[in-house]
Amino acid sequence: MRPPKPPSRPDKVSLWRYLKLFRQDILSAQPARLYRAWMAEFRTPFFRSYLMNQPELVETVLKTRPDDFPKSDRIREGLRPLLGESVFLTNGETWKRQRRIIDPAFEGGRLKDTFPAMRAASEACVARLRGQAGQVTEIEEVTSHAAADVIFRTLFSIPIEHEVAARVFTRFRAYQREQPLLNLAAFIPVPRWVPRLHSRGTKDNAAEIRDLIRQLTAERMALIEDGTAPDDLATKIMTTADPQTGDRFDTDEMVDQVAIFFLAGHETSASALAWTLYLMALYPEWQDRLAEEAKALDDSSFAVMSKLRLSRDVFREALRLYPPVPMMVREATCPERFRDREVPRGAQIVLSPWHLHRHERLWERPDEFDPSRWQTENGKQCQRTAYIPFSAGPRVCTGAGFAMVEGPLILSMLLRHFRFERVEGRDPMPVAHLTVRARDGIWLRVVER
Ligand code: HEM
Repeated sequence: MRPPKPPSRPDKVSLWRYLKLFRQDILSAQPARLYRAWMAEFRTPFFRSYLMNQPELVETVLKTRPDDFPKSDRIREGLRPLLGESVFLTNGETWKRQRRIIDPAFEGGRLKDTFPAMRAASEACVARLRGQAGQVTEIEEVTSHAAADVIFRTLFSIPIEHEVAARVFTRFRAYQREQPLLNLAAFIPVPRWVPRLHSRGTKDNAAEIRDLIRQLTAERMALIEDGTAPDDLATKIMTTADPQTGDRFDTDEMVDQVAIFFLAGHETSASALAWTLYLMALYPEWQDRLAEEAKALDDSSFAVMSKLRLSRDVFREALRLYPPVPMMVREATCPERFRDREVPRGAQIVLSPWHLHRHERLWERPDEFDPSRWQTENGKQCQRTAYIPFSAGPRVCTGAGFAMVEGPLILSMLLRHFRFERVEGRDPMPVAHLTVRARDGIWLRVVER
């Protein structure tokens, strides 16, 4: 059986029908030709957008001339109540300054320091899941909990059971439920005069989440001033000065950044891990190989990561088939000519990891699950040019290295203790919400090994 892929829509549909499909799910609203096209244009009365699906074009937008293709304002509209002026939304000088302060906290060397907190979170996940052994369980819930725990432990040295952490987590789920239009608001640039109402519930939730985070950040600021702060990501970020200006984040700016670490860091990892576990249930021979490899976890040091090679390949393959961020949008700030087409100023440029990762003219057997592909010529070539689960260029995900430790670690830890089994008739179908999720959740039977 092949990993589930959403059905494509017919090639030609009316604008009205397209918008309706789009509203339900961006992935199945697209025609199958996008898995073969190098570039595609969507023309509607309101907007024009261009999907860049050729490695060279993606490179131009993300790596060669990123300043000419800033983040689209539309994305910012949907997320501002929660994320304010966070690094995920800003552009230009503000963004550059923020990255200069944040990046050092995520450098390779720091990952080793973060590792014990990640390991503790993965052990806590095993302990929680023991209570559900033998049962059919919704796995996205399990991985969300684990990924949120990782964020709180690495950022603030507190577990998810901490009162404030638990409240952020619960409120955040409510926020997501209130925000079903995010899809639409983010990707369909309706004219600016159309009022963009954030519902009351969304605003209340965002305000509450920000209050809670403000509390954590203010407490931390006090500990830093006292000289008694733990050496975690929050302390590192709050004490790092911009090498160019000497500025540090004040509490407000830090709240914006923490909000994005929480959102970008837990939603994405949770989605990736849930799909990986489903793939393990679908391919039990891979699951057994990983469980065998996971015995290496007797070594509790960071060095163990170099022994979890299969786990890494599997996680990487899951990120190819189910990239948590399925599409990204940029804006052309000057007129362009791409593949002999005029792209006007202000056009939306869509980059789609979802389509690029399954491109039929680039990948061998694009829809098949094959973690050994990363050892082949085609796999290596595509990894360099057609694989962007974390985006690429200067705006690449800050947490990419972090996620590539966290993901394989939690995966191996879970497979060491449990077997995950497919439930007949309940295979998940991917849909794009904020991240790629399963339409009705991912249900698996959890069996203790
Ligand atoms: C499997 C896990 C993850 C995936 C697939 C992922 C993917 C991405 C992608 C595709 C972007 C670029 C979005 C865009 O340009 O529109 C991004 C940005 C970002 N991610 Fe991640 N991410 C993951 C985990 C994390 C973690 C663990 C953190 C932090 C702890 C994090 C923090 C960020 C931040 C701060 C940005 C904004 C960077 C900027 O715009 O300069 N991510 N991520």
